[in-house]
Amino acid sequence: MRIALYGLGYVGSVTAAMLAKAGHAVTGIDINPVKVDLINKGESPVNEPYLAELIRDQVIHGRLTAIKRDENGCNSDAIFICVGTPSRNDGALDDSQVRQVVEEILANRSKSDDPLIVFNRSTCLPDTHLWANRVFKDNSDLNANYVVHPEFLREGSALSDFQSPPLLLFGTEDKTLDLESLSKEFYPNTCLPIHNVGIVEASIAKYASNAFHAAKITFANEIGSICNIVGADARSVMEILCADNVLNISQAYLRPGMPYGGSCLPKDVKALVNFATKAKTNPEMLNSLDLSNDQQVQSLCSRILAKNPTSVAFLGISFKEGTDDLRGSPLVVIARTLIDEGVNVQVYDPNIHIEKFTGVNLAFLHSMIPELQHMSLDNLPEAISGSEIVILGHRNLLPELREHGTRRSSVIIDLVGICEDDIRLLGDVEGLYW
Ligand SMILES: NC(=O)c1ccc[n+]([C@@H]2O[C@H](COP(=O)([O-])OP(=O)(O)OC[C@H]3O[C@@H](n4cnc5c(N)ncnc54)[C@H](O)[C@@H]3O)[C@@H](O)[C@H]2O)c1
Repeated sequence: MRIALYGLGYVGSVTAAMLAKAGHAVTGIDINPVKVDLINKGESPVNEPYLAELIRDQVIHGRLTAIKRDENGCNSDAIFICVGTPSRNDGALDDSQVRQVVEEILANRSKSDDPLIVFNRSTCLPDTHLWANRVFKDNSDLNANYVVHPEFLREGSALSDFQSPPLLLFGTEDKTLDLESLSKEFYPNTCLPIHNVGIVEASIAKYASNAFHAAKITFANEIGSICNIVGADARSVMEILCADNVLNISQAYLRPGMPYGGSCLPKDVKALVNFATKAKTNPEMLNSLDLSNDQQVQSLCSRILAKNPTSVAFLGISFKEGTDDLRGSPLVVIARTLIDEGVNVQVYDPNIHIEKFTGVNLAFLHSMIPELQHMSLDNLPEAISGSEIVILGHRNLLPELREHGTRRSSVIIDLVGICEDDIRLLGDVEGLYW
C-alpha cells in the first residue's frame, strides 16, 4: 500500500519504519524540517532501541521517505495520523495538531474514485474523532473513511510493542471496511483478534487503558507507602497480590455496575486509610475510593428521584445475591434515601427472612431500614405491582422477572447488565452505565 504518515515523533517514526518493514511504501510528513532531513538521511528522529537501524534499512530499500508538506495531494491508499495531542495548561486536550492535519488532508487531496482510509493513531477524546469523521463524511468526494486506531506502544520497547501489540483496536462508523485484512497488512506478525467497535468506544477504551495503568502504578505505590510504615517488603506484598489470578489479576470486579458494599470492602478500605493517615502517609487514591463509591450511590438515587416516582420496587436488597447480609448494601442506602423522600418502597429478596435475623445483621436492619419488615414481600409479582420503577439489583432474580414481566408503564433500572434479548422482552429498561 502507499501510506502517508503525519507526525514523525515517538509514535510516528516507529509506525512509519514498521509499516515500511511490512512492505508498504511510506511517506512520512512532519512540519519539523530537522526530523524530515534525519529520516531522509536514514537516521532516527527519536532515540528508541533498534529504530535507527530499521529506519536506515527502510530508507536504503526505498520504502521510507519523508517530506515537509504533502504537495502530492495525499497520493496514497491510507493515511496514518500520529501527531501530538498534548495537554493545555488547564489539563484539557490540545487537539490542534490533529485538526490541522485533517484540514491539510482536505486541502491537498482532490476528488478521487480511489478509496482512502484515514487511521488516526493520536490519542483524542470522542469530540475530536467525531468532528474528523464528520469532516470526511461531509466531503464525500474524497472517498475517505475515518478510523480511530489507538496506539498502545511504550517508548523503550516500541518496536516489539508495535510488532506484538497488546490490543488491535479500531473504531469506525463503517462496518463494511475489511479491517481484518488491513490489520494483517499492517501487523503481519500478530494473530491477535481485532476489536472493531464504534468511534466513541474506541476513543474511551484508549483513555480507560491509560487511566487503568496510572491507577495500577499509584495503587502499588500507595501500598508501598503503607508497607514502609510497618516495615513490610512492598515487592513481596504486591507479588502475593498478583499471584491471585481469580479475584486480583483477572476480569473480576472490572464490570461497571453496582457500587461496592458489604461487610468487608468499605470497612477494610476505611481501616487502611485511617491507619495510613495517622502515620502521616496520605493515600489519596485509597482515600478517594469510598468518596467515589458513595457518589455513585448518590447519583443513582438522584437519577431515580428525578423520575418523581411514588412507588419503587427493589428486586434484591442485600449487598449481593445469594446472601441475606444487608451490611453496607448500596441497595439499602438507596432504599433509605427514597423512603426519606416519601417514596413507597417494596422489596422482593428471597434470601431475606427477617424473622431469622440475629446479631450484627439485625442491628444493621434496625439502624438503617427498620421499615423493611413491612416492605418485604414474598413474591415478585406483588412487589412490582403498582411500582413505576423496578430496580433489578440481583441478577438471579432475572428469570422470575422475565416470567412475570412488569407493568407496561414501569421502568426497569438494570444494575446487573442484562442482555439485549431480555431488554427486548422486558420493554422499558434503563442500564446503569450502558
Ligand atoms: N509516546 C508514546 O509512548 C505514545 C504511546 C501511545 C500513544 N501515543 C499518542 O500518539 C500521539 C503522538 O505521540 P508522540 O509521542 O509520537 O508525539 P510527538 O510530540 O513525539 O510527535 C508529534 C509529531 O507531530 C509533528 N506535527 C505536529 N503538527 C504536524 C502537522 N500539522 N503535520 C505534520 N506533522 C506535525 C510534530 O512536529 C512532531 O514531530 C499522541 O496523541 C500520543 O498521546 C503516544
